[in-house]
Amino acid sequence: MIPNRHVYVLGGASTPFIGKGHPDFVWPKHPDFGKRENPTLEEHLTRAIMLALETTGVPASAIQRGFVANFAGETFASQGHLGAMAVRAHPDLAGKPWTRVEAACASGGCAVVSAVEALQAGYDVALVAGAEVQTTVSARVGADYLARAAHYALERSIDEFTFPAMFARRWKAYSQAHGVTDADLGHVGLKAYQNANRNPLAHMRTARRSLEWCQTASDQNARFLQNEELKEHLKMSDCSQVSDGGSALVLCTESGLARLGKRPSDAIQLRSVGQSTGPLAGVTDLLALDTTALAAAEVFGDTGVGREQVGVVEVHDCFTITEWLMLEALGFAARGRAPELTLSGATAIDGRLPVNTGGGLVGFGHPVGATGIKQVVEVWRQMKGLCGDYQIASRPVFGVTANMGGDDRTAVVTLLENVA
Ligand code: CAA
Repeated sequence: MIPNRHVYVLGGASTPFIGKGHPDFVWPKHPDFGKRENPTLEEHLTRAIMLALETTGVPASAIQRGFVANFAGETFASQGHLGAMAVRAHPDLAGKPWTRVEAACASGGCAVVSAVEALQAGYDVALVAGAEVQTTVSARVGADYLARAAHYALERSIDEFTFPAMFARRWKAYSQAHGVTDADLGHVGLKAYQNANRNPLAHMRTARRSLEWCQTASDQNARFLQNEELKEHLKMSDCSQVSDGGSALVLCTESGLARLGKRPSDAIQLRSVGQSTGPLAGVTDLLALDTTALAAAEVFGDTGVGREQVGVVEVHDCFTITEWLMLEALGFAARGRAPELTLSGATAIDGRLPVNTGGGLVGFGHPVGATGIKQVVEVWRQMKGLCGDYQIASRPVFGVTANMGGDDRTAVVTLLENVA
């Protein structure tokens, strides 16, 4: 969808993404255990909103419409009704219309879509915030909650870790069809950790991983699935993190920019957004993300922008194999050819198509409701030169984000332009 009224991303921010493996994450062996608690869902949501307002210099009173992205507040944090929770962040937000948006791991992307639609309907300034807390339970219990993003009755039983098993199934099919191995896929994991090591907000910012670690199963990098057929096809280093965190963005129209005293060059333009939805439990091709491909075809078809013009990409690497499938669904590589992009260095921070420069879901982390919003924040930060140690050298003109819910059941793709 090309918005009828121009839509600008004025900027945004993320809280630090934390969880197991992050130095500030409190757990029984942490020196702060018993002295302080990890931030709550409300704290991540509030911090993300306030950071986005501070970063953009937009007063809370200027926000006309708000959306909160969250997948599983009720199960992980015993909290729903998050639109009303969000307006607690600032007294000037109270009384404005705020709504929660849920589409599993694509909640953030769908909240961006909702904001774009609200701006088409007549609002001029909108705020989109996403947050998730998942560390309140063990990874195994959390896997059961996350399995509600699949068709629970039909797909839950594949493994106690439902989503890791679903993507192990895709990697098994992909590696057999295209003749690639764990030794090749390990380069995707290595890039994620190395990028995260340069990103102060990343969940895995202090976790050092060698190529050999990412390629090889070990006691510390276990093949943890129980499904006998799939177990060989996933290691811990292939997985996104169980993270807590929040991200928020301010979006506005041209008249919103004027009202805020800003120029288009202070922002980036959202040129097009595509959303596609497939039936739960309806995956027919393990070798392709068909739903994501539809959303991508929409944004590139809408705008006529060529893939070769894109200078920065954020893809939903919920597992390492998903990064390759995403690059193929977006049209950056033909089927089975994404490994070449990684192995040639093209997707590195200094490559021709930098992908997931802050570490992606594997390295930066994956607080589910925040992820799709964080992707847009990251492209905005790269375009405006705000990424510090992981800043890419050439300032990209076009950037793409691809956010996915379930096993490619909901997809949101954005095409962003730096209108300097
Ligand atoms: N050998 C064998 N098995 C081992 C082992 C070893 N050395 N070490 C651990 N395990 C097994 C154990 O069975 C353990 O479970 P229990 O402790 O309950 O027995 C299991 O592995 C997990 O171990 P931990 O709890 O110690 O692991 P962790 O807390 O470090 O978590 C992880 C690691 C399981 C990989 C976790 O990070 C994870 O689940 N990541 C994926 C998160 C996820 O699926 N997110 C959703 C992505 S899908 C998406 O984005 C779309 C959507 O809409 C949902």
